[in-house]
Formats: sequence, structure tokens, C-alpha cells
Amino acid sequence: MKTDRMVPLMSTASSPVRYLLHDGELIEYADAKMHVLSTSMKYGVGVFEGFRAYWSEEDGELYAFRVQDHMRRLLDSMRVVEIAGPADIDVLSDQLLGLVRANELRANLHMRAQVFVDSPDGKPDDTGPATVYMAAIPMGNYFGATGLDVQISSWARLSDRAMPPRIKSIANYQNGRLALLEARRNGYGAALLLTESGHVAEGAGYNVFMVRQGRLCTPPSTESILEGITRDSVLQLAATELGLDVDLRPIDRTELYSADEIFVCGSAAEVNHVTSVDRTPIGDGSAAGPITSQLQDLYQQAVRGRIEKYRDWVIPVYGAATR
Ligand SMILES: Cc1ncc(COP(=O)(O)O)c(C=O)c1O
Repeated sequence: MKTDRMVPLMSTASSPVRYLLHDGELIEYADAKMHVLSTSMKYGVGVFEGFRAYWSEEDGELYAFRVQDHMRRLLDSMRVVEIAGPADIDVLSDQLLGLVRANELRANLHMRAQVFVDSPDGKPDDTGPATVYMAAIPMGNYFGATGLDVQISSWARLSDRAMPPRIKSIANYQNGRLALLEARRNGYGAALLLTESGHVAEGAGYNVFMVRQGRLCTPPSTESILEGITRDSVLQLAATELGLDVDLRPIDRTELYSADEIFVCGSAAEVNHVTSVDRTPIGDGSAAGPITSQLQDLYQQAVRGRIEKYRDWVIPVYGAATR
């Protein structure tokens, strides 16, 4: 990464941060451009990651959450959609953290790594040249704290026979976008999608869990879901910190209507409770239920490195952490 550019830190009205990263080099926010005839622009060929970092005032430290696991999934995404791109998880992780430091960010962040195919005259079977952009931008609570009223979408979640739902291919996101637009049009805050065979899959950018008859349940990774890193974190926290066995099993739509608790989870969404499904109230219809609240709390501790067992999930970005 270029570090010899001694330009003052600032952002403009149109750019929330000064720098982005392009193939490991710092660039000005406004200079991140691609040709309209590139493969990615013409055919939606691209993969990405979205991750978080959390600022702790108490520690004077910024903690980046499960960066290497995200980079591992980025490589997996490239493999599945056949993009010949960078392959070193450590190099990619260091580049992202270097970008955060270059922007001197000390706030809760959302970070992205995006790999595009940038050939000048894009063909559908191009697998390169790959080009990598990274961003780190301040972001607080994405959904607020009041919970989500969700609609079961009339759009089915894309299936593994059509597209690869388990990875973060940019083209997949048209599916969740349509569901979200439909939900908003109908006066809901968020959408959940069913599989082609009518089982609960996930939402537009988050996995889903329910508590029913005292059991915590979530769809298995073969139910057209993205293999979420927050989902995996929740599964581990539920088992080790709360002693809960989680049922990984197909979930019917009508089970959601009679669930005691429902929550969604994702890097941007964090752990966020659902207050209603198709206007059927969940729990008391406003507050998070007891298991959801405990998992929300554990997750917020884990992302700040406060749970010793999961300390290796976080990287102290500035190296100031004393714990
Ligand atoms: C479709 C979809 N499902 C689930 C998730 C949650 O995944 P993660 O927890 O890895 O962010 C995301 C967000 O990245 C997503 O886009």
C-alpha cells in the first residue's frame, strides 16, 4: 500500500472518508471508477464481503470482527463464480486494516471488500483480470433498536440450482432487493424469503433464527442461505455461553407465526429482533424476547473482544488494547 502520500485527513460532502483502496493502493474516494463495458458492469460478475469494526471508548481501541473468516469467504466466493483473483487471506486482511488506519477511523465501521472483473470489453465468460476495491465507512446501528416488522416475500429465495446462495455474489443481491422493495411497498420494514419448496430461508441481508417451544432453531446451510458469519457466531455463543442446543432444521412459514421469539442476524444487521411476521405479533409484539436479548448482549460483547473464549475473533486495529 502507498503510505507516502501525506495528504491531510478529511472527507467531503460526497465522500464519508478520504481513502478507498484499489488493488492495495490508497486512492481518493472519488477516483474509484470502472468502465461501463467491463465484465462486472455488463454481467454483474463480482463478489464482495461486508464486515464490521467496533470502537471501544473504554479501551481506546477499534476491534475488527472476524476479518480473516470474511476474507476466507471472499476467496470461496471467487472460486464458486470463477474469478481469478487474489488468494492470500493475510495480505487482504492487512490491506483492509491498513485502510482503516490510513483514514484514522475511530468509530463503529462497516467495511467492504469487492472483487470485480475489469476487462475493457467484457465477455460473459471472462474470469479476469480481477480488481479489488476496499472501503471502511462509519456506520452505527443499521436497523435501530425497535425491532423489525417483516413480510414473507412473494419472491422465492434463489436456489442453489440457479445461483449460489451460500456465497456473496453481487448478482444474488437482485433477489433480496426485489423482496425488500416489495416489503417496503406494502408497508413493512423488512422481508424474509422462502425457498422454492416453501421453507424459511433468510432475509435480504441477514439470516434468521426462531425460538419455538423452548428450542432455538435456524435453517441449515442447505436451505438456500448465505453461510453467515454472524449466524456462526450466534451458534457458537448460544452453545457455549447459554448452553443451548440449536436445531439446524427446515422451518415452515407457519412456525414463524407461532414462534415465541424471532431474530435476524448479519454483519450489518447485527442481532435484531422481529416484532411481527405478516402482521402477526411475535412475543409481546415490541420487545426482544429473553433468549434474543441474551444473544444480542453476548454478540455486542464478543465483537468488542470482551469474551475471553472468543478473543481471537477480533483484531485490535491500532494495537492499543490492554486486555
Ligand atoms: C443474503 C445475506 N444473508 C445473510 C447475511 C449475513 O451474513 P454475515 O453474518 O456473514 O454478514 C448477509 C450479509 O452479509 C446477506 O447478504
